[in-house]
Amino acid sequence: MAEINLEKIYASFLLRLEEVTEISQLSDIEKEYLGKGSVLSEERSKLSSLSNEDKKKYGAALKKFSEDVQSKLTAFKKDFQKSFYIKKESKENPDLTINWHSKEGTKKHILTNVMEEVVEIFASLGYTVAYGPEAETSWHNFDALNTPDWHPARHESDTLYLDENLSSLLRTQTSTVQVRHMQENEPPVYIVAPGRVYRSDQLDATHSPVFHQIEGLAVDDGITFSDLKGTLEYFVQEFFGTSVKTKFIPHFFPFTEPSAEVLVSWKDGEWLEILGCGMVDPNVFKNVNYPASTQGFAFGVGVERLAMLRYGIDHIKNFYENDLRFLEQF
Ligand code: DAH
Repeated sequence: MAEINLEKIYASFLLRLEEVTEISQLSDIEKEYLGKGSVLSEERSKLSSLSNEDKKKYGAALKKFSEDVQSKLTAFKKDFQKSFYIKKESKENPDLTINWHSKEGTKKHILTNVMEEVVEIFASLGYTVAYGPEAETSWHNFDALNTPDWHPARHESDTLYLDENLSSLLRTQTSTVQVRHMQENEPPVYIVAPGRVYRSDQLDATHSPVFHQIEGLAVDDGITFSDLKGTLEYFVQEFFGTSVKTKFIPHFFPFTEPSAEVLVSWKDGEWLEILGCGMVDPNVFKNVNYPASTQGFAFGVGVERLAMLRYGIDHIKNFYENDLRFLEQF
């Protein structure tokens, strides 16, 4: 019977496909089975000699054969191409992923390095790291830190407020973390708080509207100004070297009493200011519900300032411009 013949032909077609090693062979097979002079056209030519009924039947069988061959070829081609590319890729072994977290060939930013170094120095004294939000309440940034309503730092010309009532702002100092940490933790406290701060400042050689600070706070039984001096002298020597001397001169900060500025001995007998510090004002302890007898000291240091002094960088904008010629030096 004619149908049996078609089945045999289809089976031989499938066998041919199994031998395919190159995609170009598929068009030959297609021609062979469906094209001019193909088995199919040969079978078609037999139709005219058949009875009407057989013609219909065998004609439909031939149509089906042609469709089956066609769709098998299409599917085969797709699979073949797919496995071809998979084989090709595995041979070439390309890495189709980028590891964004790879440390290779990358460097930390100079400010990150300086911050980490300062944190390490204090960690070696037993301090831990604390963080706070950059968008803050005015209470945490000013009131809790004993800063009166009339204080110039509260002016809109100095502070970037976030609402019309001036009740929220971008923190102007990392001292806010002192408050947040003490609200959540009982003494003793030994923390450093690195982070970004914001001021309504124009960019010039030493000012930027965004910069970095590291706050320090130590609260413990019997802490005195001598502990503050010893701690900061140790820090200065670790960071700038043992030949650098430290000088404390009286200053004023709302949240410390007494307060001091720390200067370091520089070239040509010059003294340069590097940070502010003092004994935590009793009002600050009161605002975080610590007992009246609590004692502690605090300090705040500008990260850009430290980096500029140590490396002799003359303009603060160098840190933010992302010029690799600058950044790669550190
Ligand atoms: N918050 C001060 C500032 O931004 C720096 C500072 C001074 C922090 C004295 C302190 C401190 O903790 O005791 O200028």
